[in-house]
Amino acid sequence: MEQKRRLRVVSKIRETNDTCTFVLEPADDRGALNYLPGQYLTLLFQLNGREKRRAYSFSSCPEVDVLPAITVKRVVNGEFSNYLLQHVQTGDVLDAIEPNGLFVLPEKPLDTLFFIAAGSGITPVFSQLKMLLYRNRPPVKKIVLYYANRDGANTIFKEKIDRWITEFPERFECVYFFSREKHAAHAMFRHLNNELLEDLLKTFFKGAISRAQRRNTQFYLCAPVPLMRMARMTLRTLDFPDEHIRQETFQPENRPVTRLRDTSITHDIIVQGKNEHIEFQTFEGETILDAALRQGISLPYTCKSGVCFTCLARCTAGEVDVAFTEATKREGPGAMVNTCIGYAVSGQVELSYE
Ligand SMILES: Cc1cc2nc3c(=O)[nH]c(=O)nc-3n(C[C@H](O)[C@H](O)[C@H](O)COP(=O)(O)OP(=O)(O)OC[C@H]3O[C@@H](n4cnc5c(N)ncnc54)[C@H](O)[C@@H]3O)c2cc1C
Ligand code: FES
Repeated sequence: MEQKRRLRVVSKIRETNDTCTFVLEPADDRGALNYLPGQYLTLLFQLNGREKRRAYSFSSCPEVDVLPAITVKRVVNGEFSNYLLQHVQTGDVLDAIEPNGLFVLPEKPLDTLFFIAAGSGITPVFSQLKMLLYRNRPPVKKIVLYYANRDGANTIFKEKIDRWITEFPERFECVYFFSREKHAAHAMFRHLNNELLEDLLKTFFKGAISRAQRRNTQFYLCAPVPLMRMARMTLRTLDFPDEHIRQETFQPENRPVTRLRDTSITHDIIVQGKNEHIEFQTFEGETILDAALRQGISLPYTCKSGVCFTCLARCTAGEVDVAFTEATKREGPGAMVNTCIGYAVSGQVELSYE
């Protein structure tokens, strides 16, 4: 169900004090990596005999850059971001699974595409911007980036973005928001809050925002959860439709809620893959993914916290509780469910990986 890959680091580029880009090439015989701008690669690590996984979005763009690249920002006390930045060097081989992710560009032409990013959230957006600016796909008349950071020195890809501001003056606009640097070019010395975002949008649309403008505008958010929540609320207040706002979350704000496990109650799970049929049981209060892994059954996953969607499967029979941190959704036949936070509710649940 999962395609494992081996990838060699062909170069390691320092972007800022705490961020590096790793350019990769296949070190197996499976050919080039197929990915879309906005998707991510799942890296596999071994720690004390157990496999750990981390997702890293591509900062490269498939039709613009010859080789795929990921960009990693150090998280304080973070296990694998520190390992990658400190120990992984050119020539090293990394284990991974095939690219994945739903944070991809729209297919249809648009009038305006806004990106709201902060810190390492620029990574998938950077890949998407390259596709839009260099390949004009999909055709978008105006692309706007709102990008929040501490200061210019800590702004990943700033040099390249600055160059785009002058290279594509008609199509591309960028405003930086710096919390610790005054008087920088194209920058505001402000936190991006709801009032400021509302003002910026009203100025952009020259006052009242028409129905047609709302229909032809989309928003892509990749930032810490509180910033994305603020942005989504502001956009909804301005009547932009929810389905025109897409977001990628790197880290949930809270840990997913766990449930009390009762081993005296079990649920039958039947999984249909492309060429596989798997049957196993979960205990009451155990996620479908945890039950599979406990029994040595390999199902796709990365974050195990309901944010990356690697583990999505279609429920074809039965009922599943999907326990997001903010609310639990009861899902039935036809729904896509995250097995990493999905608890079987009915005696039997059937899942399909298409
Ligand atoms: C879909 C997706 C795409 C991603 N793309 C990228 C990317 O392009 N570049 C990138 O650098 N990272 C990206 N991440 C985050 C990455 O997968 C790891 O979570 C991150 O590198 C931290 O891993 P770690 O092992 O260093 O930290 P851990 O050991 O897992 O965490 C250590 C501590 O830091 C906290 N923490 C973990 N991650 C963050 C964070 N992002 N911000 C603040 N606190 C955090 C944890 O809550 C914990 O307390 C992505 C995540 C997802 C789900
Ligand atoms: S593994 Fe990331 S959402 Fe389930």
